[in-house]
Amino acid sequence: MSVRVCGGPEELSEAAAHEFAAKAEQAIEERGRFVVVLAGGSTPKAMYEVLALEYADRIDWSRVHVFFGDERTVPPDHDDSNYKMANETLLEHVPVGSVHRMRGELPPEEAAQAYEEELRTFFRTEEVPRFDLILLGVGGDGHTASLFPETSALEIDDRLVVANPVLRLETTRITLTVPVINAARTVLFLVAGEDKAEALQEILESDADPRAYPATLIRPPSGPEWMLDQSAAALLDEHST
Ligand code: 6PG
Repeated sequence: MSVRVCGGPEELSEAAAHEFAAKAEQAIEERGRFVVVLAGGSTPKAMYEVLALEYADRIDWSRVHVFFGDERTVPPDHDDSNYKMANETLLEHVPVGSVHRMRGELPPEEAAQAYEEELRTFFRTEEVPRFDLILLGVGGDGHTASLFPETSALEIDDRLVVANPVLRLETTRITLTVPVINAARTVLFLVAGEDKAEALQEILESDADPRAYPATLIRPPSGPEWMLDQSAAALLDEHST
């Protein structure tokens, strides 16, 4: 695991975009393509804007294949749609090889099944697929992707994608499952803002209960990479950062 603290949210977005480009270059060089999972939320959004603005000519976008880690149960033109956000900030501006969105307009279980099939078709494997990079955020409640505290998706190990009822939000989300996230070559958490500081302390420095802090379930073999701004890192011990 590595933890990097990058000043304010702008420095964080710049550093994260740089990291994204480096991972893309490496994957394309080694395997001819870069298969990435985008996150929703405000922190990745700022990074997508940097990528569109500063990296349009610096990444071979035609070899970049884009997937999503989670989605709200709304159509793709809805303001809550993670796809819409990524599309407007990044995907409309760079010629990516392919985009695979979760179909939030379908009944959630159907959308999850359809996305699982889409993963199987793309990766042509019956095994758990291996993404090059999965971007994630963390909520102040310790959730990541749409793996929320005390929800059924946390225990699922025989599906790639599930519909996850989130009682607290009175909705259902579609989310990648823990085994898929943990199989990625790199998992990169981007976290900004003081409202995340307490959750980060629990996740990074205590033996937090994974049902209460689902982000602790994310343990890829290489260990997740964390990029934080100073406000998010405010309560962390210096040794962790
Ligand atoms: C979503 C996300 C979610 C997000 C965190 C952090 O759809 O909302 O995928 O897991 O990453 O809630 O969001 P912020 O970056 O906005 O704090």
